[in-house]
Order: sequence, then C-alpha cells, then structure tokens
Amino acid sequence: MQKLQFACILDKSFVIFAQNFQYMLILRTISETQDHLDGIRHNNKTIGLVPTMGALHEGHLSLIRTCSAENDMTIVSIFVNPTQFNDPEDFNKYPRDFDNDIAILKNHPCDLVFAPSIEEMYPFPDTREFRFGTLDSIMEGKYRPGHFNGVAQIVSKLFEIIKPGRAYFGQKDFQQLVVIRDLVRQLDLSVQIVSCPIIREHDGLAMSSRNQLLTEKQRIAAGKINKSLEKAVLLAGKTDVGTLRKNIISEIDSDPLLKAEYFEIVDEETLKPVSEWSDKTVKIGCIAVQVGNVRLIDNIKIS
Ligand code: PAJ
Repeated sequence: MQKLQFACILDKSFVIFAQNFQYMLILRTISETQDHLDGIRHNNKTIGLVPTMGALHEGHLSLIRTCSAENDMTIVSIFVNPTQFNDPEDFNKYPRDFDNDIAILKNHPCDLVFAPSIEEMYPFPDTREFRFGTLDSIMEGKYRPGHFNGVAQIVSKLFEIIKPGRAYFGQKDFQQLVVIRDLVRQLDLSVQIVSCPIIREHDGLAMSSRNQLLTEKQRIAAGKINKSLEKAVLLAGKTDVGTLRKNIISEIDSDPLLKAEYFEIVDEETLKPVSEWSDKTVKIGCIAVQVGNVRLIDNIKIS
C-alpha cells in the first residue's frame, strides 16, 4: 500500500507520512524512539528490527518484508556506523542517500525509521571490547580488524534502545550473523535473531550497497564471484579442500579486474575452516574479493 500522502514535520526529528491511517515515523533521537516504543509495548505489540546502513536495495527490503510478516511493528534503523569501518576511506565513500531510502521505505511495510546522528549514538567514544574468539579471527575478522567489535557495539546499542522481540539479518553477511548470535548469547538478550536468504542480481551477484560504487566493467566482472562459488559447490568432494580453495582463488584472480582476498570453506556454526569433506558439518564457502577499490563479500552453502 502506498503510504506517502502528506508529510507532517512535528519537530526537527519527527515526520509522519500518512494515508488511510497508515503512517511511517522517522525518529532521530533515542529518547523519542524509546518514548514511542514504550507505548507500543504497553499494547502488547511485537516489535521487529531490521538494522541497516542505508543505501537500501532488494536485499534489505526482503528482510523488511519478512519482519513485517512476523511482527506487529517493523523498525528499520539507518546508521552508517563509523566504529565498524577499519578504513576511514571506506567509511567516507560508503553510499549514503537518505532521501531515496525514505522514498523506498514509504512504499514498503516499515512503521518506524530510526535514523540517529553519530553524536546521538556515540556521545562518548565506545570503549567496550567484545570477544568472539575464533569467530572473528579469520576471514572478515582477520582482514578487517576491529570490524566485528564495531558491529557488536552498534547492534548491542540498537538492541538496548529498541528492545526488539526479533531482529533480522541477511545470510549475505554470514560471519556477521554468526557473530550477532554469539553477541546475543554473551549478553543474555532475549531477542530472536532471524536469518534471511541472500538476494542476488540477475547474474548472481549478491546485492550490496557497495555494488553501486562499481564501474560498468567492474560490475560485469563482479558477476564471476558467484559463478566461482557455484563452481565450488560442483567441485566439492571431487578434489581435496585445499586444492579447491586454491582453484577458486586462481579463477577469480585470472580476471584482471578481480583480486580474491580469501576463499574459505568453514563450519556453519563455529566458522572453523574445514579440512576434509567427510567432516560431519554444514560447510559454507565464504569469499572476499577486491574489485578495484571496492571490496565485496559473498558465500554459498557447499554441502
Ligand atoms: P548493511 O550492509 O546495510 O546490511 C543490513 C542487513 O541487510 C544485514 O543484515 C545484511 O546481511 C542484509 N543484506 C545486505 N545485502 C543483502 C542481500 N543481498 N541479501 C540479503 N540480505 C542482505 O550489515 C550491516 O548493514 C551492518 O553491519 C549493520 C548490521 C546494520 C550494523 O551496522
């Protein structure tokens, strides 16, 4: 249902879009958000949260649809979290288009957008240090030191502010999903983490806000990332794990526009690298590829 009929600015951070009694709030402060949600909880309504960094695409929207189907109220947070970027240039060039995000959300089942400023979320530096052991010692944790600590800082703050019954995360960021589950366990939170499937472009490239930073040629080359993952699925069991890893990395690197950072085959729960196909674990192939100065990640269930 189309939501935007009129926009009513009640104060600096409070906007309502409404039509047919449907409305979407945009709140920028923690106190307003908590005040609003206290009323919702009072009425025993279930609250689902979809944390995002904006630059919304179909991947995000699939999470929002699932959230809306399973909860009375769907909250989308939009916040490009500085503490999870280990590279300041990556933070600066991260795509941001708040007006477009709102234009998209108003046509989707989102009830409240929480879009705080950096000062609102981090009035003081967040010095908390989370420990995830092996979960963040390889792959993204190894190549982006501090990344998951930053993710844990912001997600724990969002959980504390919003207190959702359920929170929705994409399998596209598979390692993040496993780390968030561990965070919830460590902090003994009651939020249920819901894992949602990867949404892909027509050529198989996993949708990502970063895809819009690719040139036309890089975008075409990036389609090979998923093709290589699909090939890994076909070759699994036919060659040893180490050889398969090397073959996939060489295949990616054979394209002059692509440079594989890692390709690991890991246990779905522990994220420990698998060395034998006979290991009785669900195996996920995880890859990170540098396309020019854009870094893309993807993964696939191997067996
Ligand atoms: P962001 O990259 O904006 O992603 C927000 C959510 O959308 C994540 O759970 C991510 O896994 C999911 N997502 C992204 N692309 C997807 C796709 N193609 N298919 C399915 N789901 C997809 O991940 C983050 O933001 C941040 O780290 C965040 C959790 C918001 C903390 O800052």
